[in-house]
Amino acid sequence: MSDRDAPTVITLSTYEDAREAFRQKHLRQALYDAGDVVMADVLVNLHGDDHRARRRLENRLFRRDSQTLYERELFPPIVADTLAPHIADGRAELVGLSHQMMMNLAAFTSGVDRPLGTPEETFRLYSYLMLFIEGATLAHYSGDREAKRAEVAAALAAFDAEFLQPSILRRHEAIARFERGDLPAEDLPRDVLTVLLRNRDDLELPDDVVLRETCFYLLAGAHTSATAFVRTLDVIFEMAGSAPSDAERARHDIGFLQRCVHETIRLQPSSPVAMRWAVEEIELSGGRRIAPGDKVVIDLMAANRDPAAFGGTAQLHDPHRTLAPGVAPWGLSFGLGMHACIGQELAAGTDALGGPDTGDQLHGLVPVAVQAVLAAGARPDPGDPAERDPASERGYWARYPVVFRG
Ligand code: HEM
Repeated sequence: MSDRDAPTVITLSTYEDAREAFRQKHLRQALYDAGDVVMADVLVNLHGDDHRARRRLENRLFRRDSQTLYERELFPPIVADTLAPHIADGRAELVGLSHQMMMNLAAFTSGVDRPLGTPEETFRLYSYLMLFIEGATLAHYSGDREAKRAEVAAALAAFDAEFLQPSILRRHEAIARFERGDLPAEDLPRDVLTVLLRNRDDLELPDDVVLRETCFYLLAGAHTSATAFVRTLDVIFEMAGSAPSDAERARHDIGFLQRCVHETIRLQPSSPVAMRWAVEEIELSGGRRIAPGDKVVIDLMAANRDPAAFGGTAQLHDPHRTLAPGVAPWGLSFGLGMHACIGQELAAGTDALGGPDTGDQLHGLVPVAVQAVLAAGARPDPGDPAERDPASERGYWARYPVVFRG
């Protein structure tokens, strides 16, 4: 028995329980309840038919042909442009660089144009993004929440005027040219904003939802990929001491590097938990009973290290790991079921080492970006050691200085 004021909290820590919970249609999203200022009515917060209708449309953007175009043509110049000045300098700070790079990639997929392409413009977009992340995770904010909410709302309005409205205008023009037959369909922008604008009547999307959905894609794509990128590089630098032949292989074999990324994401999921509200009575096959109104915490950190799924070495980073049938190399770090990450293949590629490379596999933007940094000969700066963020319970790096070959 539970009520909304003092809900019973059910924590699921085994791989099987967690997997089953993700697939339950009677559990609805609970992770962003306090983050409405950015997250109200965005895809990950929708349920049932509303979720299905929006997801079906947005899925189109993440079909294999679009993802291949992103990975092979649209992303490489962004990765190269972000890295070039740092390589020329001979050094970089990976935490800042990772956010800059992944935000620029996420801006592309969400449809936020950066017409000037200058570092100052990237920096302004980045400060908006950091505030949106704070807005989405207000539940964990220890200061004055109302003041922070107001600050985030003001940032949304400023972002709307500065970035979103000009991006909308450009897309309206492109859509009008397409409808007149002056622009082929394949030349329409391939981004979430264009999908929303072309379908807003069917989906009944008011302006404020278009704004939040676009911001949500910006933050869903950028922050997660940026942390996975820095953490994987750290793992590979460590490997140079503990398993030098693996570290060397990771530099040259992108399939193997993908496995290093997948293991990193398994052991360090971007969010340590997923959360749901039960809307109906549920009994899991392992016997756990969940009543309507209960809050379900899916402990990803524990489920992804469950020996029943990953064996006795579940706690270790092992890119050679043999996986049991049906177990994903990244564990449950991309979720499953209705809210399964829409950007999973874009971020981490298609299954690596699953068979011969047929040439049409996706490697994922995190492995591709890590590879670019390794190819430039990056190694930790011996004179300026990396530091973890002391305020972060999630083991984020505060700074990670590297030097490049030369
Ligand atoms: C390493 C990178 C990433 C990780 C670890 C990650 C993780 C996740 C997880 C765990 C969820 C499910 C949340 C839940 O069930 O409550 C999710 C959903 C989502 N992710 Fe990702 N993500 C990553 C990259 C991306 C990228 C690159 C994009 C966009 C291009 C993206 C867009 C989304 C969206 C839109 C959803 C909501 C899907 C829905 O509700 O139907 N993610 N992600």
